Amino acid sequence: MKTLIICFSQTGNTRKVAEYIRDGIKDEIEFCEITDLAGVDMKQLDQYDLVGLGCPVFYYKEPENVRSFIEELPDLNDKNWFLFCTHGSVMGVIFYTMKESLEKKGIRVIGYHDTYADGTLPFYPHPTLTTGHPDDQDLQEAQAFGKKVAQCGRAVSDGDTSCIEKPAPVPEEWVPGEAEMITNDFLLQVMPPLSINSETCVQCGDCQDACPVNGIDIESDPPKIQDPCICCFHCINVCPTCSIETDWAGYESLAPENYARYLQALKDAEARGEFRWLMDPETINFNDPYYKQRKRKLENKKE
Ligand SMILES: Cc1cc2nc3c(=O)[nH]c(=O)nc-3n(C[C@H](O)[C@H](O)[C@H](O)COP(=O)(O)O)c2cc1C
Repeated sequence: MKTLIICFSQTGNTRKVAEYIRDGIKDEIEFCEITDLAGVDMKQLDQYDLVGLGCPVFYYKEPENVRSFIEELPDLNDKNWFLFCTHGSVMGVIFYTMKESLEKKGIRVIGYHDTYADGTLPFYPHPTLTTGHPDDQDLQEAQAFGKKVAQCGRAVSDGDTSCIEKPAPVPEEWVPGEAEMITNDFLLQVMPPLSINSETCVQCGDCQDACPVNGIDIESDPPKIQDPCICCFHCINVCPTCSIETDWAGYESLAPENYARYLQALKDAEARGEFRWLMDPETINFNDPYYKQRKRKLENKKE
């Protein structure tokens, strides 16, 4: 059985989980490779008996580039795929939205696995509520999932579909209609626009390379940014000179309110046995969002 894992990962969490899933699969099946989403050869996909697709949760769903990738897939009738994701406090409806669009391509989704993970959004404090994840236990669980989904893939190929899973129900309080409301167009309207500070930009190209939708061109005059944009803000996190700027004040001020919700979601998840605390939520420092921490580090380096 030929197996492929397709992975989109910016800060490495999903990639790490993908590697453990691969190890679990390899306990059962000899051939399993991992490829980055950007490097997928669409024409080769029908050669695989089992495909895993993994990504972070962005705004309660799959990132926009992953959504476009699924839309561009050829018909892959009766192929078996599985889904995995990493996320902070609120996973949202990602497995439902991905399953629905994969099924339009004839794909059968046979298994799902989610993992709590650290997050570094510029306007949120860091450490955050899920810092420390994925830890060894999370990664062992990912490996066990890999083994299980490989067994299931083999059983389904042999005609036994009894192992096929459904995505876990979404707790009511998680997604107060937000997942549906937050489209990419909506995000572009509500998020503050980014700009490149040409005085500090050293034209290293890191932001261009990091942009998952090729939305940045620093050599054009004026430099092109957010064209297109999926509001992942990874460009801000990778810029070595903190030259991608915006006014985060509005979002920073919303952080305590949002975190109250995330905290409750995690307490509920803990009660369901789905989450373990690896940090003390009392230590969250709302006065110190991630983008300010990065600026401070840069200034300390200069001194
Ligand atoms: C733009 C953006 C939006 C995010 N939205 C959510 C979210 O809605 N729910 C959640 O639990 N985590 C959210 N996260 C956290 C990521 O899902 C988490 O950090 C993930 O592990 C990152 O994966 P990676 O390291 O593979 O890039 C978001 C992160 C970013 C950058």
